[in-house]
Amino acid sequence: MTNKEIFLTGDRPTGKLHIGHFVGSLQNRIKLQNTGEYDPFIMIADMQALTDNARDPEKIRNSLFQVALDYLAVGIDPAKSTIFVQSQIPALNELTMIYMNLVSVARLERNPTVKNEIKQKKFNESVPAGFLTYPVSQAADITAFKAKIVPVGDDQEPMIEQTREIVRSFNNAYQKDVLVEPEGYFPPKGEGRIPGLDGNAKMSKSLNNCIYLSDDAETIKKKVMSMYTDPDHIHVEDPGKVEGNVVFTYLDIFADDKAKVQELKDQYQKGGLGDVKIKLYLNEVLQGILKPIRERREEFEQKPAVVYQILEEGSKKANLIAEKTLQEVRDAMGVNYFN
Ligand code: TRP
Repeated sequence: MTNKEIFLTGDRPTGKLHIGHFVGSLQNRIKLQNTGEYDPFIMIADMQALTDNARDPEKIRNSLFQVALDYLAVGIDPAKSTIFVQSQIPALNELTMIYMNLVSVARLERNPTVKNEIKQKKFNESVPAGFLTYPVSQAADITAFKAKIVPVGDDQEPMIEQTREIVRSFNNAYQKDVLVEPEGYFPPKGEGRIPGLDGNAKMSKSLNNCIYLSDDAETIKKKVMSMYTDPDHIHVEDPGKVEGNVVFTYLDIFADDKAKVQELKDQYQKGGLGDVKIKLYLNEVLQGILKPIRERREEFEQKPAVVYQILEEGSKKANLIAEKTLQEVRDAMGVNYFN
């Protein structure tokens, strides 16, 4: 094993990944992976996905394969990164149980991301205990690997903070620096989030406003042509609004030719530039980015045995590291009666 710093991150397998994931976190991981300065661990968080899908394990099982395909398609390279499956690492559960005693129920209820999700998911009075406590299990994910860096989207900031608290509590309670405090690694301000096709602030599967990494060329075009622009821009000759116009938001993020985007914006604001034209340009830009990703994805999709083998080997390697940390944790606590 190398002595490079470990970075760890992951996704819940509840569906295919979309271009929001790409902008929010996949790109950052690939960038860090390709510096060669880190030892990357990328986890498919199936146990966390089950915290609000306990009655639909089939969905998680299918999505696990889809997310693995998305990873490989965007350039997470198993020769450089360890891709593994959360449920196959038993030490994570044991660490979770141990950390659970260092976190108060009130603290769990204060986590803003979890609070939001509870509202959105309409659990009402029946929030699964596993859901409320998933930040503790996420702390186990991160600390089991002594990850220093956690590249994630902005919404995961509270999880990193809670992990840091748990690390301090643990090291303090057992008077030993066993666990490592992680740092979040976020996309540049304002660049980590893309709105949905419908203008909603968030691209999300449940809102049905996504472009998936796996969408075919025709689907992408259809989605782009249906995008939210400026509702008051009715005639081509009318002046149009650029702020809040999702087509321009996407162009700012995805188009390399910034001068051309600026030219289009100027013309659109003056009047005389139709929505169809800007959408066709965005379509061209997105097709250029997504075509090679889709082609790589299709190749791996034909070889499921290869994909599962990557996950199995990654899980074996991850297991060794997590077991070692668990042993250190037990030793620090003296929960090692028979050694
Ligand atoms: N909570 C993350 C998400 O919803 C997924 C996740 C699970 C994760 N464990 C992690 C992310 C550990 C970073 C580190 O996307």
